[in-house]
Amino acid sequence: MELAAQLLTVLGIALMTYNVIRVGLYVRLQNDLLVGASSAWLARVVFGSIVVFDVAYVVILLQNLGRLSVGLILASGAAFVTVVIYWLISLDASMRQDTTRLVETLVAVIEARDPSLRGHSRQVRDVSLMIYDVLPRPQRRKVNREQLGYAALLHDLGKIGIPEAILNKPGPLTSEERAIVKAHPQIGVDIVRPIGLLDDATDWILYHHEYVDGTGYFGIAGDAIPLGARIISVADVFSALYMNRPYAGSIGYDECVRTMRDEAGTHLDPQIVEAFCSIPREDVLATAPDATPAAAPAAASAPASAPQAD
Ligand SMILES: [Fe+2]
Repeated sequence: MELAAQLLTVLGIALMTYNVIRVGLYVRLQNDLLVGASSAWLARVVFGSIVVFDVAYVVILLQNLGRLSVGLILASGAAFVTVVIYWLISLDASMRQDTTRLVETLVAVIEARDPSLRGHSRQVRDVSLMIYDVLPRPQRRKVNREQLGYAALLHDLGKIGIPEAILNKPGPLTSEERAIVKAHPQIGVDIVRPIGLLDDATDWILYHHEYVDGTGYFGIAGDAIPLGARIISVADVFSALYMNRPYAGSIGYDECVRTMRDEAGTHLDPQIVEAFCSIPREDVLATAPDATPAAAPAAASAPASAPQAD
């Protein structure tokens, strides 16, 4: 009987350790979702609680207080918590999958209307997340990584509202056509906001064409441009330069970097550009859609014009 009680107590210790680690990791994953200091506090409390739980269980075990009923209560309590945690995390994962499917569907709609964008949205998403991952932690804490991925994928969603004749025009746009294209960030936000998918990240879509010198679509400058928008802007410009677009030939990676550095401080945030440049070249190139002919020698030697990320 005593052995059974001790085994149950050991089971309780194992389950509670599993629970605390699982919840701790989950909270850490959500750290970026709960923008602010409270999430770090929460993670510390969760990880600290493992000490309290396990010490209490071990004390019970060592002091031989573990009559069968005590062990049973502890083990069943731990089992209950395990099931609840498993259910909550599974539910959350399921909801995230639904959100991802919705976003992927919207991306498919964008790409169906504008074939030149095929693979662009995903590349902007991938590069944005890579930039995020190399930023200093204080800056990362200002941006939710998951929301950044969604906003980057949907940054050009508003092109749904732009006539196809303009989107697929082979030559340069007229000033009237450019004015129409300039409406796409606002159109995208108008579509996304009612869904409640992105919360504050809608501003990253709205301001992804801002210039740090204040000469962008809305004329806001520097740090007034949300950090998420500045990240997407750098990723967007890289992708626009690197991919084969109707109005500009593809250029190589080195030429992209040179052009982006030229644009740092006027168009692009210099710190974000340098963060981008610190990402291993092969990682960045791995984000290119398969069909991208960027490595073609003729294209690589084409002169780089000012970034045309629409
Ligand atoms: Fe855009």
